[in-house]
Amino acid sequence: MAIIAQKCPHIKVTVVDLNVERIAAWNDEDVNNIPIYEPGLSDIVKEARGRNLFFSTEVDKAIDEAQMIFISVNTPTKTYGLGKGMAADLKYIELCARQIASIAKSDKIVVEKSTLPVRTAEAVKNILDNTGNGVQFQILSNPEFLAEGTAVTDLLNPDRVLIGGDTTPEGQEAIDSLVEIYANWVPKGQILTTNLWSSELSKLTANAFLAQRVSSINAMSELCEKTGADVSEVARAIGMDSRIGPKFLKSSVGFGGSCFQKDILNLVYIAKSYGLNEVADYWEQVIIMNDHQKRRFANNIVTTLYNTVSGKKIAFLGWAFKKDTNDTRESAAIYVADYLLNEQANVTVFDPQVKQKQIHHDLNYLQTRDAELNQKGTVVVDDPYEACKNAHAIAILTEWDEFRDYDWQKIYDNMQKPAFVFDGRNILDAKKMESYGFIFQSVGTAN
Ligand SMILES: NC(=O)c1ccc[n+]([C@@H]2O[C@H](COP(=O)([O-])OP(=O)(O)OC[C@H]3O[C@@H](n4cnc5c(N)ncnc54)[C@H](O)[C@@H]3O)[C@@H](O)[C@H]2O)c1
Repeated sequence: MAIIAQKCPHIKVTVVDLNVERIAAWNDEDVNNIPIYEPGLSDIVKEARGRNLFFSTEVDKAIDEAQMIFISVNTPTKTYGLGKGMAADLKYIELCARQIASIAKSDKIVVEKSTLPVRTAEAVKNILDNTGNGVQFQILSNPEFLAEGTAVTDLLNPDRVLIGGDTTPEGQEAIDSLVEIYANWVPKGQILTTNLWSSELSKLTANAFLAQRVSSINAMSELCEKTGADVSEVARAIGMDSRIGPKFLKSSVGFGGSCFQKDILNLVYIAKSYGLNEVADYWEQVIIMNDHQKRRFANNIVTTLYNTVSGKKIAFLGWAFKKDTNDTRESAAIYVADYLLNEQANVTVFDPQVKQKQIHHDLNYLQTRDAELNQKGTVVVDDPYEACKNAHAIAILTEWDEFRDYDWQKIYDNMQKPAFVFDGRNILDAKKMESYGFIFQSVGTAN
């Protein structure tokens, strides 16, 4: 919405949320305090906020005034009842639809921006038409393909914008009005229009394919470790094949983020609900492989440290699920820490953007042990050298650029010996690290 406001000064954009604290942070005088860390975003908010970009908790007022409403609420995996652990929880979507229906006194275009199961638009339309005040609603699907960490550049130069709508003349008119908004900065050739179901399913498909590439290379990483092949060399060799391409072939401790896992589980659930068990099993394997990779990484730390980490200090560099974001949802670090805490390790974490409160919250959310034990077992510091001081081992969980430039000799000198580094993101040079004295292990190379 900030990018739309920046690129379309003639359009008034109001972002509303029930979360008072979040909206207050979006309105913070100092734009560096907005709740999302994303390179370039603060400057855009600074430019547009108060001009044609507004943040507010007055949801009803914003609905009443808007001609077009983007539903961008969370669609987490269900944690209860039918479809528990798999299906998308559409509670928040339904509440939005009901609220829009009850408030709207003029025709509106409702845009699904959240990632949704295929055919959700049907349910949204049903609610709007049956509980509304007789006004006309058009539903569009406009899934978001940005990646966290590069959101601003992705939105400014998208590979494509996808808009799905009804195939009726009214549907086409609604599609055209959203096309006109994006056309303020995106070439029309890159704005694809489809029917609603293709658009909804394309988002799930895109995330499934991306995650599948990560799990595919991670599956190969384990084979590399056994055979003496090097996964980076294998990735490079296959990536130069133009049919495969080089992106998303980096082996690691596993993917995280709020979307990949939830969207694949959702896809699996949809396939199962149509009785397509082979389709469901095929995609579920992507998640199984990812879970295996996280467990394998943690397990390797324990076995390498002479089969026990009890009472040992393990320093984590990185907690965010990837670099250049403060988002920690489904981060591999959470699961690796949980595993090591079960083994009675003392974990110390440094992340350039993630705060202590979030780290403890992430661990408590798993409900593996009491909050008190999580707090005792996980110390969070704001200096990487302090994090690594007297540690038996360092685990790199996020690929922050700054980690490459640390004074690794100094870090080595201040650690327990032998000093181990487990590079879960393959960002450090093995030969250099070994020259400092470390016992160094990365993902996908024989040790
Ligand atoms: N985060 C991403 O990079 C990304 C990328 C593509 C798609 N998506 C999709 O976008 C959706 C939102 O993701 P997110 O990461 O922003 O989630 P989020 O949980 O960070 O934000 C959702 C917000 O919606 C608010 N909300 C919930 N119900 C509301 C209501 N009835 N009225 C007003 N506000 C309400 C919540 O308070 C919360 O602030 C999801 O469907 C996700 O799959 C996210």
